[in-house]
Amino acid sequence: MYFKRLFDVLNACSMPRWAEILEPQLADYFNNLNHGDYSRWKAAIDNLPVIVPSQISLDSNNVQIGNVIDCSEETAEELKQQLKELMPWRKGPFNLFGCLIDTEWRSDLKWSRLEKHIKPLDERMVLDIGCGNGYYGWRMLGNNARHIVGLDPTLLFYMQFTAIKKYIPDANIDLLPFGIQKLPDFELNFDTVFSMGVIYHRRDPIEHIRQCLNCLKAGGELVLETLVIDDLNMDVLIPDGRYAKMNNVWAIPNTETIIHWVEQAGFKNARIIDVTKTTSDEQRQTEWMKFESLSNFLDQEDNSRTVEGYPAPTRVIVLADKP
Ligand SMILES: C[S@@+](CC[C@H](N)C(=O)[O-])C[C@H]1O[C@@H](n2cnc3c(N)ncnc32)[C@H](O)[C@@H]1O
Repeated sequence: MYFKRLFDVLNACSMPRWAEILEPQLADYFNNLNHGDYSRWKAAIDNLPVIVPSQISLDSNNVQIGNVIDCSEETAEELKQQLKELMPWRKGPFNLFGCLIDTEWRSDLKWSRLEKHIKPLDERMVLDIGCGNGYYGWRMLGNNARHIVGLDPTLLFYMQFTAIKKYIPDANIDLLPFGIQKLPDFELNFDTVFSMGVIYHRRDPIEHIRQCLNCLKAGGELVLETLVIDDLNMDVLIPDGRYAKMNNVWAIPNTETIIHWVEQAGFKNARIIDVTKTTSDEQRQTEWMKFESLSNFLDQEDNSRTVEGYPAPTRVIVLADKP
């Protein structure tokens, strides 16, 4: 079965109860899948050409699988066509056999902001909540994590992940096509939990951080990344309607409030390791993501404001430890 390696590792890492629950959850999910684009996306994955990668490099900015010399020009064109069926590609970049998937986000920039600060991932069990298409998971594997479990409810991102994993089927990384709501309420045993770009989509942010706590073993590390309001006079911004054209942003804290929330949820040693304003170098329209992007979300006259008049996106990375 597709997830057998995951179940084996969960059993080996003191999470057999979760493995037991996951098996029927996954069967139920795939048996009831009725997304309108699923057949097209699945056909694209089925039609990906068979190519054996001569080189895999997961510790560089472009997650690189294979080399341009591994296939003919015709096969490379076929590969590109199928990958384009899975657009829009938001998180990356990836380089598959010389085909550069230049994604909307230069996700490597966020990774480089946090990589040196987090506990080394060697042999760690990692949970990445809201993992997108799994870009960061591949980078974690490049940092020698034992196994990465990604969680994301957006089917397209699961399909993008599946397309990439087709070329490294034995890699110690899996993506579960679920939201955080499907996690069990008993404790899990991960060494590191990432929650990046998710908390402002949750209606109860402290509950979200508590759920992260529940997934960690004692001494485990939380890596929490979120939008923040760069204004200490405002504890939390609750957007009235959209924020930067997103309609599902519930609450954006300032830097003091996010630390307070993390500690209130039960973590210790919460600290900020990075605050960065998002620029068009990091988030922009590309050949692989043709919809609107950051420049369309900002006020054309004043780039320090969103089109709704809120402070423009600034993001923070917080680390904390489970006692
Ligand atoms: C802004 S993206 C962040 C992706 C990636 N973690 C990053 O930092 O670039 C938010 C992600 O959270 C996912 N998401 C939305 N609701 C979620 C939920 N309830 N549980 C887990 N992930 C969720 C979305 O599908 C999306 O991929």
